[in-house]
Amino acid sequence: MTESLQELLLELEQFGLSNDGVITERPRRMLNITRDTGEFLSVLVRAMNARRVLEIGTSNGYSTLWLALAAKAIDGHVTTVELSDFKLALAARNFAQSGLAAFITQVHGEAGAVLRGSPESSFDLVFLDSERAEYLGWWPDIRRVLRKGGLLVVDNATSHSAEMAPFVALVAADPDFATCTVPVGNGEFLATRAAS
Ligand SMILES: C[S@@+](CC[C@H](N)C(=O)[O-])C[C@H]1O[C@@H](n2cnc3c(N)ncnc32)[C@H](O)[C@@H]1O
Repeated sequence: MTESLQELLLELEQFGLSNDGVITERPRRMLNITRDTGEFLSVLVRAMNARRVLEIGTSNGYSTLWLALAAKAIDGHVTTVELSDFKLALAARNFAQSGLAAFITQVHGEAGAVLRGSPESSFDLVFLDSERAEYLGWWPDIRRVLRKGGLLVVDNATSHSAEMAPFVALVAADPDFATCTVPVGNGEFLATRAAS
C-alpha cells in the first residue's frame, strides 16, 4: 500500500469516528467497517481471486478502498452501490484521492433494483453492508448474481445479531450454501455457494 493511501485510510477512520460520535441522523453517519474488517475483506478477495466484486452500501467509500486495493492486485474490479447523493459525492472524492478510482465503478441507485437488473452469476464476491431490514427481500437476487463457488460477506453479524438473525437463518438453511460467522470487527457472516 502506498503511503498516501495509508494516510487517506487513517484520515477516513478518524473522520468516521469523530463524525459518527456527534451526528445522530443515520443518513449523515458514515457507519464504516473497522480496519480489521477491511484487512479481512482484502485478504478474501485476493485468496479467492474474486475479480468481480459487488459492494452494497458505499457510504464515503472506506470499505470500497479495501476491496479496490485487493482488486488492483488481482486485476479485478469493484462495483459499489449507494442510494445517497451526499455519500456518493464523498466517496467519489475519496476514490479520486486514493489512486484506485480505475478499479471502482460507482452505481447511484437502490440496491434492490440494481440487484434485480444484474445478470446471473455476475459476481465472485458480494459484500453486503446496507439497510439490514432489506436483506431478506434482496436474498433471491443476491443468490442469483453470485456465481457458483462465490462468497457473500455481510457486516454487523455480531453487533446487530438480533436484526440479522432471520437473514442468517434463511441463508444457513439453503442447501447450496455453507455459512459461518467470523469474529472480526462487527462480526462478518460468510456464505459460500457450492461450486457445482
Ligand atoms: C453501513 S453504511 C455502508 C458503510 C460502508 N460499507 C463502509 O464501511 O465504509 C450503509 C450505506 O447503505 C446505503 N443504503 C441504505 N439503503 C440503501 C439501498 N436501498 N440501496 C443502496 N444503498 C443503500 C446508506 O446510504 C449507507 O451509506
